[in-house]
Amino acid sequence: MTIRFDDQVVIVTGSANGLGKSHVLEFARRGARVVVNDLGGARDGSGGSSKAAQAVVEEIVGSGGEAIANAANVAEYDQVEAMVGQAIDKWGRIDVLVNNAGILRDKTFAKMDLADFQMVMDVHLKGSVNCTKAVWEHMRERQYGRIVMTTSSTGLYGNFGQSNYAAAKMALVGLMNTLGLEGHKYGIRVNALSPIAATRMTEDVIPENLLALLRPEAVTPAVIFMCSEDAPSRQIIAAGAGGFAKVTIQETPGIFLKPDSLDAENVAAGWDKIAETEGMRELQFGGEQTEKFLAGAARTLGIKLE
Ligand SMILES: NC(=O)c1ccc[n+]([C@@H]2O[C@H](COP(=O)([O-])OP(=O)(O)OC[C@H]3O[C@@H](n4cnc5c(N)ncnc54)[C@H](O)[C@@H]3O)[C@@H](O)[C@H]2O)c1
Repeated sequence: MTIRFDDQVVIVTGSANGLGKSHVLEFARRGARVVVNDLGGARDGSGGSSKAAQAVVEEIVGSGGEAIANAANVAEYDQVEAMVGQAIDKWGRIDVLVNNAGILRDKTFAKMDLADFQMVMDVHLKGSVNCTKAVWEHMRERQYGRIVMTTSSTGLYGNFGQSNYAAAKMALVGLMNTLGLEGHKYGIRVNALSPIAATRMTEDVIPENLLALLRPEAVTPAVIFMCSEDAPSRQIIAAGAGGFAKVTIQETPGIFLKPDSLDAENVAAGWDKIAETEGMRELQFGGEQTEKFLAGAARTLGIKLE
């Protein structure tokens, strides 16, 4: 069945360039009224202009779509609130939020100023929190919402020289997991995208012959799926070059030590068994870990849990 967004209102942050632009154009092609948000700054977050967002709006309107440009800095709550107000005043609703805006300030941790750490946290983490907070009550009231966080392989697996970006991107996975739980009964589904694409953000690291494969348009279908009515929730989808995969965080069964052997030496001695991946699984919420450990302890000690 064709996925459509007729009558729906979609905000994509950072959508004047790269992945966000590809997402917002596709939402518009599929019938959505879209807010093209972009601060219009440089890759490191400096500067700003609404021209870039305006150009994308003109492209959408030129093909018969409906779009408005917005130059809010996602790191500033007042500006984000005004953006959400602008969309609701014009169209009366917001159905989808794609948190995509981002910057880089790469340096090894040893050489990184705390200001560069903070700036990246502010745009990626606080920016996503701000935008989500600004639409959350509205979505709860309407009992419908689709939200995407943009994470990264750097957050999920680490990358040399990107400690600030890694910390922010993994924080978004925690945010997604908890908001997915809190939004569930209000019809709000929250997912995360781990994209791989050739954009100005990756222009230094992707060889020229691979650029065509890594076009942002190859990532966007994952976002469209995650924002559709039948979207899953609390999933991380990695996407790029035509590939799509689910990323999970899992836990091994582990070992249980009895009180008389409960020391660091036995953790060291048991490490191979602790790390044994057979039977590894994804837990559904934090408290499940407590339940699992208490059940394991009860089994090991032969006691009954009340
Ligand atoms: N390109 C990749 O391979 C890749 C990989 C992993 C994650 N990502 C993530 O995907 C997202 C999009 O990245 P991209 O590669 O398209 O980069 P990009 O630089 O082409 O696009 C990012 C856009 O965000 C805008 N922006 C930056 N700060 C903003 C702010 N404070 N408020 C509003 N807009 C702001 C920029 O002006 C820019 O248009 C980012 O979150 C990035 O971290 C990209």
